[in-house]
Amino acid sequence: EVGLHPAAYPWSHKGWLDSYDHASIRRGYLVYKEVCAACHSLDRIAWRNLVGVSHTADEVKVLAEEVEYTDGPNDEGEMFQRPGKLSDYLPRPYANDEAARASNQGSLPPDLSLIVKARHGGADYLFSLLTGYVDPPAGVEIREGMNYNPYFPGGAIAMPRLLFDGVVEYDDGTPATTSQMAKDVSTFLSWAAEPEHDERKKIGIKAVILFSTLTALSLYVKRFKWSVIK
Ligand code: HEM
Repeated sequence: EVGLHPAAYPWSHKGWLDSYDHASIRRGYLVYKEVCAACHSLDRIAWRNLVGVSHTADEVKVLAEEVEYTDGPNDEGEMFQRPGKLSDYLPRPYANDEAARASNQGSLPPDLSLIVKARHGGADYLFSLLTGYVDPPAGVEIREGMNYNPYFPGGAIAMPRLLFDGVVEYDDGTPATTSQMAKDVSTFLSWAAEPEHDERKKIGIKAVILFSTLTALSLYVKRFKWSVIK
C-alpha cells in the first residue's frame, strides 16, 4: 500500500544554481538533536562534518564535548570514558537494534543519514510525514500504540507526532512553529544525505562555462581553418 503523495515544496536548494539554506541546516540540527536524536541515529555524520556548514569549529567542539564516548583500551587494557572530539561520530540513542525495538513497541526507528534519499519523495515526504498526523478517517482502526499518518505507506506508523509549536527554541529568533521545525529538520537531513550538494552545483556551473567556451572556440577555429578549402 502506498501513502498519500506529498506536495512538491519550494525548497530553497531545489534549483540548478541553488545552494542549501545554511541557517536552516543549523536550526534543523537543533531539531534533530533535541527531538529526533532521542530515537534515531545519524551514523554517517561526524562532528567535524558540521564545521563550516551549520556551526563554527569552536561551537562544534563544545557540542562534541557534551557527549561522553567510550574509548580504549588504554595501556592498562581498560576501556575509559572521555568527552567527544571533532573526529567522533554523532552518538546513537540505543546500544543496538534490539534495544531500539524494545523502546518502540517492536518498531525500529531507522538511521536518518540517508533517509531523504531512501524514501520516495525525499524532503517533500519527510516534511509531509512530520506535519501530516491527523485523526484516522471513519472506519479506520489504529492499533494501540500506533498512530495514523496518511503519508506513511499503510497509514499506521509507530512514530507519534513529535513536532508541536515551541518544542525547541532557535538561537536566531525564528519562531519554532511545527512547520518551521519540519522544514528545518528536512533541510538538515537533505544535507546529511548529500553533503557534497553545494560543491557539486558549483563545479557544474564551472563545467558549463568551461565547456561552452571550448565549444565556441573550436567552432571559430574550424570555420577559420576550413575557409580556404571551401
Ligand atoms: C520512523 C523521522 C523523531 C520513532 C521514522 C521515519 C522517519 C522519521 C523519516 C521513517 C518513516 C518511513 O519508514 O518512511 C523522524 C524525525 C524526527 C523523529 C525527522 C524528529 C523530528 C522520532 C522520535 C521517536 C521516533 C523522537 C521515538 C519516540 C520512530 C519509529 C519509527 C520512525 C519507531 C518507525 C516507524 C514504523 O516503522 O512504524 N522517523 N523521527 N522518531 N521513527 Fe522517527
